[in-house]
Amino acid sequence: MSKLRLGVNIDHVATVRNARGGDNPDPVRAAILAQDAGADGITAHLREDRRHISDDDIARLAQSLTIPLNLEMAATDEMLQIALKARPHAACIVPEKREERTTEGGIDAAGQHIRLQPIVTELGAAGIRVSMFIEADRRQLDASKALGAPVVELHTGAYAHATGAARDTELKKIQDAAAYGASIGLEVHAGHGLTYENVKPIAAIAQLRELNIGHFLIGEAVFIGLEHSIRTMRRLMDEART
Ligand code: PXP
Repeated sequence: MSKLRLGVNIDHVATVRNARGGDNPDPVRAAILAQDAGADGITAHLREDRRHISDDDIARLAQSLTIPLNLEMAATDEMLQIALKARPHAACIVPEKREERTTEGGIDAAGQHIRLQPIVTELGAAGIRVSMFIEADRRQLDASKALGAPVVELHTGAYAHATGAARDTELKKIQDAAAYGASIGLEVHAGHGLTYENVKPIAAIAQLRELNIGHFLIGEAVFIGLEHSIRTMRRLMDEART
């Protein structure tokens, strides 16, 4: 089975920094440490309300990293202009609601085709690899393909929050969506809510190419350090595929 890439989301280093203002802890320092600890990419979400990552963080990440930067962004003109300037390796289009605590659902690629099309096209034309953050649903996979996005990221939040038989049901949806997505030529990623405890069944899905993980890794770093936190996740992902 191919190696599964680990994208480390460093947003919540910025959350801690912003709780006090000032410069510490610096999410760019965390990103470089993550890179040295074996992360295959860095993910950062520049939210419209700038609650964690700032414009300056994105500019510094784009300059400092040797591994790919994946910019999570809402489909707005403002974010499009920032992405075109920063030129990240990839841009993941996410839905954004100001009052939500985190990205609560996938983007409606099927229902918002007309609004999304120019943004996906412009990003793609600039050489930025576009990913649609969607629910594990065939309609959304077909719609992402129709938009011309080469990549989708399946939202694993419902799986991560479910227990017992409901978790098995959610896992099956992600397995089916990953297989279907790959069969129609999409590169399939997954993420949201993944932890040491729930990552293995997801990492074992052969069609997945990348997981994006943030909140748990940054929280765990408080206890064992960021390097150890990332290396442990890396090991569990590798174990799931052997
Ligand atoms: N992927 C996407 C598209 C996200 O929006 C997020 C959260 O910012 C993640 C992955 C990472 O989720 P978590 O922080 O729960 O690991």
